[in-house]
Formats: sequence, structure tokens, C-alpha cells
Amino acid sequence: MYILGLSSYSHESSCSLIKDGQVKFVIEEERLNREKHTWKYPANAIAQCLALEGIGIRDIDHITFFWIPNREIIGNLTHVLKYFPRSLNFLRAPSGGSELSFLDRIVLMNNIGVRIARQFGLKAAPAVHFIEHHLAHAASAFFVSRFEKAAVLTIDGRGESTSTMMSVGDGNRITKILEIKVPHSLGHLYAAVTDYLGFKPFFDEWKVMGMSAYGKDTYAADFAKIVQLWPDGAYRLNLDYVSFHTHGAGQWVSGLFLNTFGPKREKGEQYDQRHFDIAYALQKTVEKTGVHLANGIYKRTKLKRLCMTGGVVLNCLMNKKIVEQTPFEEFFFQPIANDAGTSLGSALYYYHQVLGKPRGFEFDSPYLGMDYTDDAIEKTLKEKGISYRRSPDIARETARHIAQGKIVGWFQGRMEAGPRALGHRSIVADPTDPGMKDRLNARVKRREMFRPFAPSVLEEKAGEYFILPKGQRSPYMILIADVREDKKEILPAITHNDGTARVHTVNKKTSPEYWKLIEEFGKIKGVPVLLNTSFNENEPIVCTPAQAIDCFLRTDFDVLAIGNFLADKHA
Ligand SMILES: [Fe+2]
Repeated sequence: MYILGLSSYSHESSCSLIKDGQVKFVIEEERLNREKHTWKYPANAIAQCLALEGIGIRDIDHITFFWIPNREIIGNLTHVLKYFPRSLNFLRAPSGGSELSFLDRIVLMNNIGVRIARQFGLKAAPAVHFIEHHLAHAASAFFVSRFEKAAVLTIDGRGESTSTMMSVGDGNRITKILEIKVPHSLGHLYAAVTDYLGFKPFFDEWKVMGMSAYGKDTYAADFAKIVQLWPDGAYRLNLDYVSFHTHGAGQWVSGLFLNTFGPKREKGEQYDQRHFDIAYALQKTVEKTGVHLANGIYKRTKLKRLCMTGGVVLNCLMNKKIVEQTPFEEFFFQPIANDAGTSLGSALYYYHQVLGKPRGFEFDSPYLGMDYTDDAIEKTLKEKGISYRRSPDIARETARHIAQGKIVGWFQGRMEAGPRALGHRSIVADPTDPGMKDRLNARVKRREMFRPFAPSVLEEKAGEYFILPKGQRSPYMILIADVREDKKEILPAITHNDGTARVHTVNKKTSPEYWKLIEEFGKIKGVPVLLNTSFNENEPIVCTPAQAIDCFLRTDFDVLAIGNFLADKHA
């Protein structure tokens, strides 16, 4: 049985394909239409999923969608009445991460079947099963976890009206136990401060998290007034500080917020210590609230296993605190935690919970996208007219280049699902080089100085370099670790200002070529760690060989290792 899951018209549009409960593909539309976090209908991703499986749209048994638009209408009308008349602005403003107004979005969502029919020339719109957003998130984590029973916590900006949900997963069922509704949303608070600090909400939250490592504890008491932690494990926002509940994305924070924290930083303006301190206060508040929620669900369920997902769960500093400061013993953080994961979750929810099918798939690999043969890669290399050669041992040769201080584009195997490059579409470099961070920024990435680069480490050696809480692995870079005190000097390019690193533990079985690359580098330099950043330059991560070669030619990195081929700009 094939189920095609879709997410669209919010942010991170995506398509997933499952067959008899086995996850076959998860592909984000942004990789194909080249618009970061795109909200657009995932026509390319759907076409790719079908083509890769060698089937047509008529072979699909069910189509699922990550949202119930009509439920949002009811929720939003209630909301508008509650905050009337200021809330009229809310209806007109762009909603979520898209450019669409609420009303435009609802029309598009309700017509998703018609849109599919148009793409494939069908006479009638196929039936689409609309799945509640937070249940889709929850399903994307629990149903593919290794746990028979677990507490499930989902935190994001918002679904139809829910921003945070506690539930219990048991076998092939998920049962809600608590929901927090908008405007009380940790995700929207983070987006609001992201906007306030001069960045793009639903887009640049990473930057705020990076900034927080440079902040001091100046505003903790003020932020404690914004998020109130309730004894039942829930939280509420003090709405006096925000405006998004009345003005949507048109006006995120209130006059009281501006009076308390000073004027908004406009894009391009200089950073001062106040900005870093506000990022710090926000980050600490999110961590505290995340721990509070996780302890809350533990108290209610007394289960030892926790699954988490939702956009806020991309906050890997928060995840670290949750592992450290709650009684849970085992964890699964779904790496496709943003809305891209809800296309998968909607399909899984329908298969297990609606159709009652048993579970039998464990998520152990994020490599759920396209793959390209050496023949296809070589054809593209020739078309692009660059000089290259076939390598007899791509991992060993590439490791030598990295050890010589070169910046390398590493393009191998199936594309990663989720926002992180995990060694299949990565730019890699020597993490022991103190000048590497600046060089990478000057030549390729052009990031702000406060954003860290992450390490990939052989899973077997991770403990020698990093302290991962409760002995966790971090195969999806969704958990922060402390860099061991005596290793900080050895790994200057990946140790953040607060002594942490967003570590990626590399498994030999899941990612054999990348594992070998790190091992070979370790043989030369004595350190089985690489700096790993996404293969892109202010664009979505590259997907095809052509995009990888274009990025290589456009930017200033030295070597491209693509399939079994090497191209060296300076050879
Ligand atoms: Fe979401």
C-alpha cells in the first residue's frame, strides 16, 4: 500500500512516500525549486518521489495532508472575536512563514486535491485525508521510533490552533493528553524575537541561537515575566509583551516589549551587547520552558522514553537541557522536526492510527532523498566543462586534501532529509585549524561571526572529544554536546563561544563513505573529527550534481569530491 504525504502552503513544503509502513522517500521542495523554506505546492518533490519509486499517481492508495484547514478557520474566528478589533490585522497579515494571508492559504489548502489533479492531468480531484498538524508531527516521531510506548512532546509555532502538545504513543496509537493553543506559542515567541533582532522569522532562528552564546544574564528576570510556567506542566505567554496574536507577522512585539528591551534592531544595523543579551535571555527561557514541559509530561505519564519534534525541537541547546534535566532515560528527537516532517507524519498517522496497521519501521537513516550514479555525475561534469579525474579511493584522497587545509565539497549517496547536511551534501574542512572558521566564512559561507560550525565525529570516538548527555548519540545533529575541556584547543574551528558543539556522530553502517573519510582524516591528523557544514552558499542545500558543481564554481572552495570523482581548482 502506497501513501503519499504532503505538506504545503505553510513553510518547508515537502512530499513523503511510504510503502506498507516503510519510509521510502522524504523530499523537501526547497531542494528542487531552490527557494529556502518554500511554502509552495511541492510539485517537483511529488514528481521525484513517484519517479524514484517507479510508480505513477494512480498507484497511490491514499494521499494525506499535514493540516486540517477547516479546523483552523473555526479556531481563527474564535481568536479574532476574542481579540477584536485589533485582531482584524491578523487576518490580513501574512501567516506563518509564507507570504500568504490566512484566507488565501485556507483556500489553497482546501483545494489541494484539485492542484494534484492539475499536475497529473486527472479528471477528478483525488481524495485527500487531512491530518491534524500536531498529530502529524507526533506520528513522524513516535511511529518510527524504536519505542513500543513513549511520551510524545511536540512544540512548534502553531498548527490549526495548537502550539504545543503532550501525548502518549502506545503501539500504533497516539493519544493526546494536553494541548496548549495559540497565541501561547514558544515557537512564535522565538520568531518574534528573531524579527526584533533584525532577522527573518521562521528562517533565521539559528542565528539567534548562535548569538545567545555571546550574551550575558542581563534580561533573565524580564523574560521570566513573558513566559509563565504553570504547575500542570503547561505554560502561558504574557500577551502584553507581544503583538502577533493581533497583527500576525506584520507586528511581532508590543510597545511594552520595546519599552523594556529598547528599540528593534533593523536589518544590517550593528550588533551591540544588548542584542546578544536578549538572544541569551530568550534562549534560556526556551530551555527552561522545554525542560518544564518535558518534566510535566513525565509527571503525567511516568514513562521512561520521550519522543520530541516540531520546529522548536530544532533548538538543540534546549534538547540538551531536556536530556540532562529530566528523568527520561531514552530519547528520540525526529531530525525532520520542521514542517517538512509532517508530510511523513501525516502518512504514518493515516497508516497506523486510521487504518490500524501495525508498526514495523525504525527511523535510523536520514538519507531519504535522491541518489545519482557515477555515470550521471560524470555526464554532468563533462557538460559543465570542468577538469576532473576518477579517484581509486575517494575517501582517502579527499582526507589528504582536507588535512592539507583545503575546503572540500563532499557530495555522496542519497540526499539528506531535514535541515542538516549529514555527510552526503556537506562542505568539510579541518576542525583543528584555528583560522578555518574565518576562512570558510570569507570564501564560501559568509555567515555572521557568531554562528558556529559543527563537527562530525566517528560514533565510536565521540566520547573522547565530546560530553553527550546520558550517553546519547547524535546522528542527526539535533543535540548539543560540551566539548571536553582538553579538546577545546585541539578543535578551535568547531568549539562555540560557550564551549559547546552541535555534534554529529557518524555511524559506519548508516554512512559508510563519510565514516571512512573521517577515519582517513583521523589517521593523518590524529583527530577523527571533521568540520561539517551544509553544501550551499546562501541557498537551499545542493541536491543535484549540477547544483553542486555550480556552487563549486561560484564560490571559493578548493576541491569537489563527487561520487568517485575529484575536481581540484588549484591542480
Ligand atoms: Fe509545525
